[in-house]
Amino acid sequence: MDAVDGRGIYYSYDADYGDEPVLKNIRVLIRKGEFTAVLGANGSGKTTLARHFNALNDLQRGQLIVDGMNVADASCHWELRRHVGMVFQNPDNQFVSSFVEEDLAFGLKNYETPEREIPQRIKKALAAVSMDGYERYSPHELSGGQKQRIALAAVLVLEPDVILFDEATSMLDPGGRLEVMGQMKKLHREGNTVVMITHDIEEAVEAEKVILMSRGNILACGTPHRVLTDRTLLEQAELLPPFAVQMYYDLKERGVCLAQCPLKREELVEELCQLN
Ligand SMILES: Nc1ncnc2c1ncn2[C@@H]1O[C@H](COP(=O)(O)OP(=O)(O)O)[C@@H](O)[C@H]1O
Ligand SMILES: [Mg+2]
Repeated sequence: MDAVDGRGIYYSYDADYGDEPVLKNIRVLIRKGEFTAVLGANGSGKTTLARHFNALNDLQRGQLIVDGMNVADASCHWELRRHVGMVFQNPDNQFVSSFVEEDLAFGLKNYETPEREIPQRIKKALAAVSMDGYERYSPHELSGGQKQRIALAAVLVLEPDVILFDEATSMLDPGGRLEVMGQMKKLHREGNTVVMITHDIEEAVEAEKVILMSRGNILACGTPHRVLTDRTLLEQAELLPPFAVQMYYDLKERGVCLAQCPLKREELVEELCQLN
């Protein structure tokens, strides 16, 4: 089964005023267990699209099936939001309580989890993000990376099938970014469907599949290698290629040909070491 199957999606914030839609005839397919990056410049429509996946935005036109549920059917929205969890950009805006354990319990109580199961579920979710023993901490005592891990634990405690990260690393320092990226990779390895929404092309390199958005359209969908080494496509999307890809082309122009176009810095180093 597919995690996300959308067709013909249009969306306009001001439909009544005849504004140009911010999503235009979107066709999107995400398979279960995939680690997908939705990449695009600011304002390209990534968040608007992602908010359709758990019915935070109304489906105005088109069809969308997420985790087997028809998003057009409002009676499944509550259940849908349990199956599709979302971690947002600003870690400080995601807490509802003054203690970590209360924050995690909040979602469980909303979904009427039996009281006796709650401590165990919280323990498991904290362990999943390597934050064991943080039950009695206040979110405000934590670093940015730790806050995002707690925000993720608050999603995981509901045992979702699809986890969306909407620019979840963009407000963090480099250490925090690595922590959160590490969590995404771990969730993927464990078989979860992970969707990373980002404007940072160096992050998109880490995914298994890239959906490239520009001005409310999907320009391309494919492996990072196919999408992120295509300079024409990236120019259309108003993005610069990853550093390693840019180096590959710069070297080529100066007559130095690497055997393969690298995507990551480590791959670039490897290719450079194999020269001569
Ligand atoms: N709540 C809103 N009301 C009106 N316009 C919005 C709202 N949110 C986003 N937009 C507009 O929709 C477009 C797409 O925005 P968004 O989905 O946030 O893009 P991205 O996440 O790729 O930065 C932008 O032009 C943005 O200004
Ligand atoms: Mg956004």
